[in-house]
Amino acid sequence: MKHILSVLSLVAALSLVGAAEAKAQNVQGKAVRAEQLANDNWLMHVTPQETAKYLLLPVEDKAPEAHLKLIVDGQLRRNIDVRMALHKIDYYVPVLLDEFRGHHLMVQAHMNIDRSNRGGVGSEICWANIRLSDTFDQTNRERFRPLYHHTPVYGWMNDPNGMFYKDGTWHLFYQYNPYGSMWGNMNWRHSTSRDLLTWQDQGVALAPDAFGAIFSGSCVVDERNTAGFGAGAVIALYTSAGDVQSQSLAYSTDGGRTFTPYAGNPILTADVIDFRDPNMFWNDDINAWNLILAVGQEMRIYSSPNLKDWKEESRFGLSYGNHDGVWECPDLFPLAVDKSSKTKWVLVCNINPGGPFGGSATQYFVGDFDGHKFTCDSAPQVTKWMDWGKDHYATVSFWGAPQNRRTVIAWMSNWQYANDAPTMQYRSANSIARDLGLFQDGGEYYVSVKPSPEMLAARGKKVSRPTEACELVVDLKGSATITLANTKGEQVVMTYDDDARTFSMDRTASGDVSFSEAFPCTTVAPTHGRIKQLRIFVDRCSIEAFDANGHVAMTNLVFPSEPYNSVKVKGGKATVYEIKK
Ligand code: FRU
Repeated sequence: MKHILSVLSLVAALSLVGAAEAKAQNVQGKAVRAEQLANDNWLMHVTPQETAKYLLLPVEDKAPEAHLKLIVDGQLRRNIDVRMALHKIDYYVPVLLDEFRGHHLMVQAHMNIDRSNRGGVGSEICWANIRLSDTFDQTNRERFRPLYHHTPVYGWMNDPNGMFYKDGTWHLFYQYNPYGSMWGNMNWRHSTSRDLLTWQDQGVALAPDAFGAIFSGSCVVDERNTAGFGAGAVIALYTSAGDVQSQSLAYSTDGGRTFTPYAGNPILTADVIDFRDPNMFWNDDINAWNLILAVGQEMRIYSSPNLKDWKEESRFGLSYGNHDGVWECPDLFPLAVDKSSKTKWVLVCNINPGGPFGGSATQYFVGDFDGHKFTCDSAPQVTKWMDWGKDHYATVSFWGAPQNRRTVIAWMSNWQYANDAPTMQYRSANSIARDLGLFQDGGEYYVSVKPSPEMLAARGKKVSRPTEACELVVDLKGSATITLANTKGEQVVMTYDDDARTFSMDRTASGDVSFSEAFPCTTVAPTHGRIKQLRIFVDRCSIEAFDANGHVAMTNLVFPSEPYNSVKVKGGKATVYEIKK
């Protein structure tokens, strides 16, 4: 009781200070007025305006998330979490007002602040700085923003979602936060490309609804109209992440530009906590759809005639591979084996944590699949990794890639530090596109990973030294050391050991490594035989190394204080090409 009383009097004292300060800040210009309510709540009155396009909210990247309710004509329209600025404004995020025009918009915010070590109620600087505006400046402000990797124009990105190819266009959706550069408020945002190199932003495709945020999932083109939304409709299956995780469907009849959530959602539910990331594909062998779903520590496989009604067929994985984390973002597809007439199936399983160097990574299994059950060829204890760097996660493939290609893109980060990477206007990039194959070594099948052919087309003129966007082709005679450095003494050292048959990348002195203890590291990969040539793709904040046969792929982020502009090779010769943009 004594304790409750003292807490109450502390709250009263704080709100007195707050009330005084808030009064002084109550006038926010003509159109937005923030009023302080009890219990750390605020009410913003947004006067409807004919002209203003955006409500701009001031964000402090590392402030706690405030919970905002967007109330339109007295009805709750949307819940969003925004890190409202307390002490300094790192950037603004826009709330698009188009859909509210002519209506009465109010925003109720609960600040969610631990007041014991913060200023009094009302001392937050956000309240005096909320603005209405006709413009939102999307010009790049980040020196680490890659020049030829996909990034969101602003805000946070994680997993690639719903990737498909149709009529010459590659579609990439992705996990996206429109209201900040840290994870939250999951939407699908959409980008398109005709060359896998330059991307056009197509805006938000799916936003949270009553069933929850829009977590990862996949898209297919329903040419046969099995779902009844029209031949050629683009169907998205995604996880609705609310109080529980369930699977929902949305369809697009304009080629993936806009989606309508299906009225019968959710279409797949279960009594488990981690139940997500549906990946579906047409399977000629059973003349029906298959779906693979990550459920805790295993994968569940389903079939369906119509993309809406799913029957569980089997489960895979409880005793297979790495289980040091949650299984996420699955994929399942056939691949031809190099130098053989065989086809095998690859089951992709992204896992976090549990990666070979800590945190997130992509493991896979090779075996057979008959539309009902996946049977792994390897012994249960065998673990195979698709990429041996630290920044390669949530890898899934495009539906419908041309010429039977199996093209994948990864999220180029790691949950250990993704939210702390030293950018603010946007956060995270994707890997370059890669094409997968299969090869054999020592009685096992392995996935080969090669830069997609589009990366050869992107090769520009030969230059004498590395630039901030270049490809190094390194011809090797045996063991070799490749040192990429700048004039500040920052460097990345790559080593090929011809005896041990390993390739490694040391980024401990690569530049800014201070934002996470988990960031500085050396990653090491087996090379499955001799390496004769390496292709190393350098962009402003990433290095992706591949051997010419696709037996090694290694993806690591780097944050040098100036671009690396020299390369020294001991035991080989480097040719540097610019990347055409
Ligand atoms: C993987 C993941 C998915 C989930 C999504 C949420 O990075 O955790 O399992 O759907 O991110 O953003």
